Amino acid sequence: MKSKSNQTMRAVAIDEFGGIEKMKPRELPVPEVATDEILVRVDTAGVGVWDTFEREGGFAREFGMQANFPYVLGSDGAGTVEKVGDKVHDLKRGDRVYGISFMSPKGGFYAEYTVVKADNAAMIPQALSTRDAGVLAVDGGTALIGLDKTLQLKAGESILILGASGGIGHLAVQLAKRMKARVLAVASGQDGVEFVKRLGADKVIDGHREDILKAAHEFAPKGLDAALLTAGGKAGEQAIAALREGGRAAYPNGVEVAPQARDGVKVTSYNWEPDPRTFTKLNELIDGGPFEVHIARTFKLEDAAEAQQALNSHYLGKLALVLN
Ligand SMILES: NC(=O)c1ccc[n+]([C@@H]2O[C@H](COP(=O)([O-])OP(=O)(O)OC[C@H]3O[C@@H](n4cnc5c(N)ncnc54)[C@H](OP(=O)(O)O)[C@@H]3O)[C@@H](O)[C@H]2O)c1
Repeated sequence: MKSKSNQTMRAVAIDEFGGIEKMKPRELPVPEVATDEILVRVDTAGVGVWDTFEREGGFAREFGMQANFPYVLGSDGAGTVEKVGDKVHDLKRGDRVYGISFMSPKGGFYAEYTVVKADNAAMIPQALSTRDAGVLAVDGGTALIGLDKTLQLKAGESILILGASGGIGHLAVQLAKRMKARVLAVASGQDGVEFVKRLGADKVIDGHREDILKAAHEFAPKGLDAALLTAGGKAGEQAIAALREGGRAAYPNGVEVAPQARDGVKVTSYNWEPDPRTFTKLNELIDGGPFEVHIARTFKLEDAAEAQQALNSHYLGKLALVLN
């Protein structure tokens, strides 16, 4: 089955959108690279909370995209460059890379090999293993775009990060500290609180058990400058209520229930659309000192359905598929 020589590979794909039972381990052709693409031998694939939405056809409907079945799932991951297209000059065979493949007709990262646009990939920061970088591309980029481009966070400002022990959140806490902000982290569970303390947040509370408004008031008596919300609902409302006049909040599209604005504060939703500058900045920040990309559990490729089921449980950081 493992047979690059005859140009096939192991993958987990669906023949139509639907439930978890549609996911099947398959033997499929290794995709061909176009001139602006790279072929990656996948080491690790991220299992994102949005992967179920992808499998159910949510993204295809939302973006009016035609899927190419059998459709290989998985939108981010890391591995080694196997081949580069003629117009790719900044990556070469053997480089360790991480990247994003979103609704690609050539398939995603739940496979031994995948093809990505060279602009949607980058060299792995030196400080990180290929394994850990496998869950970095979507959540790391989303954390950085939220803090930097959307919130325009400045040194010395106070920021609340909601969902701080989750995929985006645990990366955002570390990036915000690198940007010299004061971080009030709202994590999930006692294990989440311990985890995020270790990552260097200035104050950490359990958002399921503690009073967010009270903690925010103690942390920033005149109101918080900013909030990055990776979860919604009541906790999101409280985070927005804790902002000062003129404060700003941001959340990536997908957060439910979407946070609502209130008078005197700006609430912005955003998407991470991969671009080389963001990858470069993310890598620079990560390489500025110790940085943890946390994988709570790994699964074999063939157990991808089990991994997607595990998305419904409580865990810290991210889940991943390991290909070797
Ligand atoms: N638009 C984009 O470009 C984009 C990109 C990436 C992600 N997203 C979206 O962004 C959202 C977050 O993604 P993610 O990968 O960070 O997901 P995630 O790993 O599930 O993170 C969310 C975290 O929030 C925690 N949480 C929920 N309620 C909480 C509360 N009251 N207090 C403290 N923590 C709480 C969850 O923990 P428990 O489950 O244990 O409560 C979880 O750890 C998702 O909706 C995803 O689809 C959008």
